[in-house]
Amino acid sequence: MNIVFAASECVPFAKTGGLADVVGSLPQALADLGHSVSVYLPKYKQTKLTDAKVLLRSVTIPFDDQYRFCSVLDGGKHSGVQFYFIDYPAFFERDALYGTPAGDYPDNAERFALYCRAVLESSKVLGVPDIFHCHDWQSALVPVLLRTSYADDPVFRNTHTVFTIHNIGYQGVFPPDTLPLLMLPWDLFTINKMEFWGKVNFLKAALVFSDHLTTVSRKYAQEIQNSEYGFGLEGVLRSRAGSLSGIINGVDYEEWSPARDKFIVRQYTQENLDGKKECKYDLLRQFGLEKVSIDLPVIGIVSRFVAQKGFDLIGEIASDLARMPLIVTALGSGEKEYQELLLRLHRQHPERFAVKVAYDNALAHKIEAGADMFLMPSRYEPSGLNQMYSLKYGTVPLVRDRRPG
Ligand code: ADP
Ligand code: GLC
Repeated sequence: MNIVFAASECVPFAKTGGLADVVGSLPQALADLGHSVSVYLPKYKQTKLTDAKVLLRSVTIPFDDQYRFCSVLDGGKHSGVQFYFIDYPAFFERDALYGTPAGDYPDNAERFALYCRAVLESSKVLGVPDIFHCHDWQSALVPVLLRTSYADDPVFRNTHTVFTIHNIGYQGVFPPDTLPLLMLPWDLFTINKMEFWGKVNFLKAALVFSDHLTTVSRKYAQEIQNSEYGFGLEGVLRSRAGSLSGIINGVDYEEWSPARDKFIVRQYTQENLDGKKECKYDLLRQFGLEKVSIDLPVIGIVSRFVAQKGFDLIGEIASDLARMPLIVTALGSGEKEYQELLLRLHRQHPERFAVKVAYDNALAHKIEAGADMFLMPSRYEPSGLNQMYSLKYGTVPLVRDRRPG
């Protein structure tokens, strides 16, 4: 089969969270099974490409006020998977993928609508797939356009769509006038299509228009069908329950295994944990804590700084933690509120809380390997790769017990 992935993140090109890990490894696994797989990504400022050839110099994307013209770059073939990049510097040459600590970029609807239309238009030239596999709201307009504006395009007559929900907390909700701006028909603005409490909801429309839906664990497939975890889309999901599968995320053990990890000072295995102690020394060194006793337990945190990850719960018990003989090493970036919370804890208790506000892949690996425990008290967690990595690294994951009482 010919499968095209459309997603906004992918290791090693651009990443903010687990979506990138999955889009980095699932296409390879499908290629290993004999499928022909390509991945389309936006070309961000952060995306490092060497000598990328321009494959399509001009792809026309209509907006109501003007046409925009993007190009498509050849990212080459890696482990049997072909990569393409949608290049439109006015939208993607920015300091971050989606926004700043203060909030999302105001033109995210235009940015990712351009990306989705570009995927459809370029695939007509570079190879029409049997299946578009789209991920999260940023690629949600691919199935929507395919069944609306592109419904009569003979080229896509036999093309089907799979849409994976990685996190239903992010939906791409915009004001109604986004529809004419993006040249989308007003008849989409109904309760059983794209309308959501008077606004336009990209994710909702993908849930309506995709042929099949998947999400990243069996439990999450059930959870999002009820009001506690469905973020308002539980009704739509219940109406599509027959086409929704929960498939647990896999882990790429080439990348995340203490026996192979290229970022840690000494590799180790389940049978011989000697290297883990050296990794702990190294981790303390990374945070300038070389003087503290190696016998103190170290709790690691690697996270996007967002409410989902339960930072308010950490805040609530911070003074108890500060009285305990342990060290917390935290790495993360995201919302200002949680950055400030962690930096404040560091200022108040420098001997307990070591904090780095950054996105740093090497340090993320060092924390997984060097910490004794991994703290991830998420309010909800669709799948959660970090706690799965922790199991592999012999780093006990501490998670939130959601049972009542
Ligand atoms: P989510 O996808 O919700 O962010 P996951 O636990 O599934 O949560 O995946 C998070 C991924 O992002 C992991 O690979 C983790 O190592 C990585 N990550 C998160 N924050 C950072 C950061 N500040 N620096 C480096 N890696 C990070
Ligand atoms: C999302 C979820 C996370 C999941 C990841 C990859 O970011 O929050 O739980 O592991 O996607 O599917």
